[in-house]
Amino acid sequence: MSDHSFLTWPFFEDKHRALALELEDWAGTELAEYSSAPANVDLACRKLVLKLAKAGWLDYCVTKKYGGINSSLDVRSLCLIRETLARYSGLADFVFAMQGLGSGTISLFGSAELKQKYLPDVRSGKKIAAFALTEPEAGSDAAAITTTAEQDDASFVLNGEKTLISNGGIADYYTVFAKTGEAPGTHGISAFVVDADTAGLEISERIEVIAPHPLARIRFNQCRIPITQQIGVGGDGFKMAMATLDIFRSTVGAAALGFARHALDEALNRTKSRQMFGAPMSRLQLIQAKLGEMSLDIDASSLLIYRAAWTKDNGAERITKEAAMAKLFATEAAQRVIDEAVQIFGGSGVVSGFAVEQLYREIRALRIYEGASEVQKLIIASQTLKEN
Ligand code: CAA
Repeated sequence: MSDHSFLTWPFFEDKHRALALELEDWAGTELAEYSSAPANVDLACRKLVLKLAKAGWLDYCVTKKYGGINSSLDVRSLCLIRETLARYSGLADFVFAMQGLGSGTISLFGSAELKQKYLPDVRSGKKIAAFALTEPEAGSDAAAITTTAEQDDASFVLNGEKTLISNGGIADYYTVFAKTGEAPGTHGISAFVVDADTAGLEISERIEVIAPHPLARIRFNQCRIPITQQIGVGGDGFKMAMATLDIFRSTVGAAALGFARHALDEALNRTKSRQMFGAPMSRLQLIQAKLGEMSLDIDASSLLIYRAAWTKDNGAERITKEAAMAKLFATEAAQRVIDEAVQIFGGSGVVSGFAVEQLYREIRALRIYEGASEVQKLIIASQTLKEN
């Protein structure tokens, strides 16, 4: 079992400590079959959504009024859940994360009608959620999106293309960001909920990645939705996307931390049990240096993640800088930790099926999705310049 001493830190309340330990018990038995890549990833995701829902973990993705646990999204809980799930199953973490991210903009800014229509079903696993911002020519530069939504009486008509959309192909609905043109640039984007079975929405390509999960390119061709599917105020879509990402970027850091903790556990077992030059590997100082750096990276990540989460839970309107720091540091650190774990395992570390080999594939995307490391550096710099 991983080190849980961080739970004594003052960032947490007793409810968080209880949650982490209860989930740890559950994940240890219930996720065993999802510890490595399944043959049918879509089916596994569908099963995992229902499994997470049944056990009550998706209650943390929505607020109390819609069947959730907390009156507002509790970022510490979301982070603890992602950290724990990621230690046992990258796919379970992915499924949980997407129910949260794909419904987050509705929770934060949606009308009561939209919340009632989607959030209870997200919580029960009846609806699978997705977040559609990225486009073929607009990744890091999110304001450059070209998908349009034109109002036509009581409808909006969407045209354009989104890509690298997680849950694409299995989602029941997509939170879509599109140009509505109220003002230039970031002030002319709005957010919508588009049901997957709406005429004019098509999955144009499924995309295979190094750590398999459902991912797709989506095309909107004269896709007509009622105006009641708009989230919040027209023209505020970019800010809504960023505010949603402020919450979920901290949780990406937490998932990376879970992967890193798993890698350290594997490395510790290996170095204590493997004999080398007449003694356990753990006696070698070069190995100790690696373990020391891995452990330091893990604690530093954890401090930044739970600082960001605690700050939001304690009422901060924005945690843009804190979340960017948490995501940047934790994902880069986890890559280092996992790479060292592979090195410690030597040849076995790159053999398919070894835990560290899988972690090596799992971690890579986290340094890119929800804002690449380079974007996080820009955000930290711009916030720091504003503050000083
Ligand atoms: N909260 C509220 N408002 C915010 C905000 C936040 N966190 N961040 C920015 N804004 C506001 C700004 O205050 C500004 O408002 P005003 O014009 O009124 O002052 C407006 O939004 C524009 O902000 P910027 O000037 O910073 O905009 P920019 O164009 O320079 O953005 C960027 C720069 C930070 C690089 C942004 O484009 C970005 O975050 N890019 C990364 C995109 C990303 O993360 N994509 C993730 C896709 S989803 C995904 O990966 C999920 C998945 O599949 C698993």
